[in-house]
Amino acid sequence: MVETPATAPKIEESPDLLSRRGFMQLAWGALAAFLGGVAANSLRFLFPNVVYEPSQKFNAGPAVDYPLGVSLKWMREQRVWVVRREQGLYALWGRCTHLGCTPSWFGGEDRFKCPCHGSNFSPQGDVIAGPAPKPLWHCKIELASNGDLIIDKAVLENRPGFRENAPYFVDTQGA
Ligand code: FES
Repeated sequence: MVETPATAPKIEESPDLLSRRGFMQLAWGALAAFLGGVAANSLRFLFPNVVYEPSQKFNAGPAVDYPLGVSLKWMREQRVWVVRREQGLYALWGRCTHLGCTPSWFGGEDRFKCPCHGSNFSPQGDVIAGPAPKPLWHCKIELASNGDLIIDKAVLENRPGFRENAPYFVDTQGA
C-alpha cells in the first residue's frame, strides 16, 4: 500500500526561474517598442512634407494706374514688370532665361538688359542679344471685376501666339 502525504509538498521557485521570466518580459517589451516604432514611422508617410511658400498670385492694383510703357512698380517686391501697350497690358517675370539673373529696364534703349552675361530682351521679352535661349516669361494676368490686375507668377507662357492672348494679356481697349 502506497502512503500519500496529507499535504502536497511546497515547491519553491528558484531564483533562476524568476530571472528567466524577467528576461522574457523584457524581450516582449523590447519587441513591442520596436513594432510601435515601425508603426509610427509607417504612419509618418501618410503625412507628406509640405513646403508652405508664399502665394505666387498678387493684386497689382487698378489697371488704369498703369500708363503706356514699362512699370517698375512691382519689380522689387514681386520681380514683375507690368507693361502697357496700346492694346492692353501684360506682366513679365523679371528672371533672365539664361541663368536666372534679374535684368534691368533701359527705357532709352527700349530693352531689358541682363547684367550677368549681357542678354538683351525686347519689351515683349524676345531675345535680341546674348546667350539667353528663350524669351522672358509672361505671367498670367487677369482683370478683376473691380478693375484691379491680378497677376499669377505660377502660370507662365513665352511662346509668340500664346503670350499675346488671355490669360497672359489683358485687352483694355474700350475698357
Ligand atoms: S543670366 Fe542673364 S545673360 Fe546670363
